[in-house]
Amino acid sequence: MEQRLTIDYQEFDSPEQMSAEDQALVAAAYEAKKGSYSPYSHFQVGAALLLEDGTVVKGANQENVAYPSGLCAERTAMFAAGANYPDVPFKTLAIVASDHGVTCVYPASPCGSCRQVMAEYQKKNGKPFSIILVGSKRIRKFGRVDDLLPFIFDSLG
Ligand code: THU
Repeated sequence: MEQRLTIDYQEFDSPEQMSAEDQALVAAAYEAKKGSYSPYSHFQVGAALLLEDGTVVKGANQENVAYPSGLCAERTAMFAAGANYPDVPFKTLAIVASDHGVTCVYPASPCGSCRQVMAEYQKKNGKPFSIILVGSKRIRKFGRVDDLLPFIFDSLG
């Protein structure tokens, strides 16, 4: 039996087309990007995570001369939120990237490890959260982690 999986997401040409809350979060992601430590890739990524209580937790990619020791922006934000606000569910995660200081025109898409970490927090929170991928010419908003990571691994099966 053939099956088809579809993904629903929204697309915007600029932050002004989004809600005031999302616009503010996108601005926070741009701000977060300033904290990128990326002397090896020169690819700067910022993430801003809005929690259900209105707190915004920022993250930026942190690199290391021993390459695998670095961490993506998304995970620095999610781990900081998990460590500092363990009981507050995630509402929205916004991500923006620059290459050599120039904001990417089309949104950078999170790596598989970051998607897996998103899935874990969505499960921990017991409800979906949104992800906004920001480029200077295109913005995509997904309503739940499943839309970026179909067939999420669940040890319970
Ligand atoms: N990076 C992120 O922070 N998030 C992504 O979604 C993709 C990649 C970082 C990792 C590394 O510091 C640099 O970007 C180049 O891969």
